[in-house]
Amino acid sequence: MKKISIAIDGPAAAGKSTVAKIVAEKLSYIYIDTGAMYRALTYKAIQNHVNLENEQELLAVLQKTSIELMPGEEGQIIILDGENVTNDIRSAQVTNSVSAVAKHRAIRAEMVARQQEFGAEGGVVMDGRDIGTHVLPNAEVKVFLLASVDERAARRHAENQSKGFPTDLEQLKKEIATRDKLDSEREVAPLRKAEDAEEIDTTSMSIGEVADRILALAAERN
Ligand code: CDP
Ligand code: CDP
Repeated sequence: MKKISIAIDGPAAAGKSTVAKIVAEKLSYIYIDTGAMYRALTYKAIQNHVNLENEQELLAVLQKTSIELMPGEEGQIIILDGENVTNDIRSAQVTNSVSAVAKHRAIRAEMVARQQEFGAEGGVVMDGRDIGTHVLPNAEVKVFLLASVDERAARRHAENQSKGFPTDLEQLKKEIATRDKLDSEREVAPLRKAEDAEEIDTTSMSIGEVADRILALAAERN
């Protein structure tokens, strides 16, 4: 069977990475979590006290930075300059700063180039905010996952609790809404459904149902 490309976009905590991993595993494709790349750069910039508003300084850091995504036992492992930062990049500080880093044109250009290189051979499931619109505009399958803010905050809340992290549902709702607004209203490659993407409202769908819908689209377009 031909190896196609699958682009999964949508707002925070819509279930993108969870279903992307399942779809990639079922098809034996590689999975690329592009949000983790922006998170890794944000983490490094914070560690190095870089002003997140300074595009040129951030770009200089990115140009000297290696970000590798590798399959691990519990999902994808993120290696930043040789160090495993998989958990560090999910901190509240990184989560609440990442949109500021991701808004810069030069940063996006470099990230998109790296992502396109990862996906150059096809056989890839990539999730993010601009995959269908910019990174893989020719992807055979494009989906845009949606769910209400309440549902998305409840999902993140449950996820945090299962990992033993302290979490506040109302605070999560505010943070998710703020990040969605920043990502949707930025000038460069804002969060948008590609014209040819299928919108899937996952509010009352299970993870398996969403994955099956994407696998059905992949089978149709293969
Ligand atoms: O998993 P979650 O929805 O919390 O976010 P993520 O996918 O890890 O993405 C973190 C942030 O990176 C987003 O809020 C965007 O600001 C940025 N991002 C982006 O701008 N473009 C992408 N393709 C992926 C992420
Ligand atoms: O990658 P993104 O930020 O879009 O979301 P995620 O990290 O894949 O999903 C956030 C949480 O919602 C995870 O704990 C998933 O298990 C859960 N989820 C769900 O309960 N129902 C779905 N249909 C999809 C995800």
